[in-house]
Amino acid sequence: MSIREATLIQGDGIGPEITQATLQVLDALGMQFDWDEQFGGMAAVEKAGTPLPNATLDSIRHTKLCLKGPLTTPVGGGYRSVNVALRQEFDLYANVRPTKTIVPGGRYEHVDLVIIRENTEGLYVGLDHTFKIGGDRRALAQAMSIVTREGSERIARYAFEYAKTHGRKKVTIVHKANILKATSGLFLEVARRVAEQYAGAIACDDKIVDNTAMQLVIKPEQFDVIVTTNLFGDILSDEAAGLVGGLGLAPGANIGTHAAIFEPVHGSAPDIAGKGIANPSAQMLAAAMMLDHIGELEAGQRLRCAIEATIVTDNVRTPDLGGRAATAEFAHAVVKRVRA
Ligand code: NAI
Ligand code: MG
Repeated sequence: MSIREATLIQGDGIGPEITQATLQVLDALGMQFDWDEQFGGMAAVEKAGTPLPNATLDSIRHTKLCLKGPLTTPVGGGYRSVNVALRQEFDLYANVRPTKTIVPGGRYEHVDLVIIRENTEGLYVGLDHTFKIGGDRRALAQAMSIVTREGSERIARYAFEYAKTHGRKKVTIVHKANILKATSGLFLEVARRVAEQYAGAIACDDKIVDNTAMQLVIKPEQFDVIVTTNLFGDILSDEAAGLVGGLGLAPGANIGTHAAIFEPVHGSAPDIAGKGIANPSAQMLAAAMMLDHIGELEAGQRLRCAIEATIVTDNVRTPDLGGRAATAEFAHAVVKRVRA
């Protein structure tokens, strides 16, 4: 393959440790990238005086592809979240979070689902205000939810295309159209229309969000791909991650028309930073999603299988999974599996 340009942000805290481990396994896979290393978060504040330097944005604008470690959002000083800023800057409309049982013996054995969350509309558009009545400056609060036909169409299409290319069988549209007839109703209507175009190839059903939350706990195996609006997706994807236990295993992707950013769901873990014991699996799984995204599906799958075999068969585990392996030992074991 030709060497693909990509932006690399190692991130703060455990970021550099888990990123180094991930670069080793990408190398073992024979996946070569021409990395443009940039900075964000605290590392960027120290180097450039801002958590999101223009050079970082320019790089992502150019490469359209970014592997990113967790960033510490500086407290105080009026800094806004770097992650929110990136999402807005590149219109990263699809937030994709797969949840899969890897470690046996947990609460659920056969969870294998993907939540695709609309990442730019809904209640997260920032139209959230308080109003003064009489002497009370905050007597009334109002939030506005924006749902557009275009926004719903592109996320629904993304979900069905994702299902198609990833061998998934069913998409569940999650909504609250019984109460929010306009906003959630429009989302459901548009998503159902997109579903018709995949009839025969990808099954589709829909569920009300509160029932979905319960069904996830009772019988998570029934779900395959879930597509939903911003707030519901935010809540359900954390719930889903909780089903299989462990932030160290949860990757996420933020996909837009102009760029895609792959990262672990967890943060910079300052409590264990520098100790060499962080679990690099989430970052490695994020890299596997990046490989899928650029069409290297076979390499992505090989990486996922290697991580699973390392944890389950070889029983090499970092302390968060009850093991004793250091980050570097775990990475070494995954490299061995990749090469096997
Ligand atoms: P956190 O996710 O960094 O840590 C929560 C707990 O999980 C800690 O005990 C940590 O040691 C553990 N943990 C997380 N990842 C782990 C891994 N790979 N291996 C082993 N243990 C792991 O959440 P916290 O402490 O709330 O946030 C720390 C910083 O990270 C904050 O500045 C926050 O703003 C930032 N953050 C950044 C995110 C991003 O860049 N996408 C996402 C979430 C938080
Ligand atoms: Mg959230």
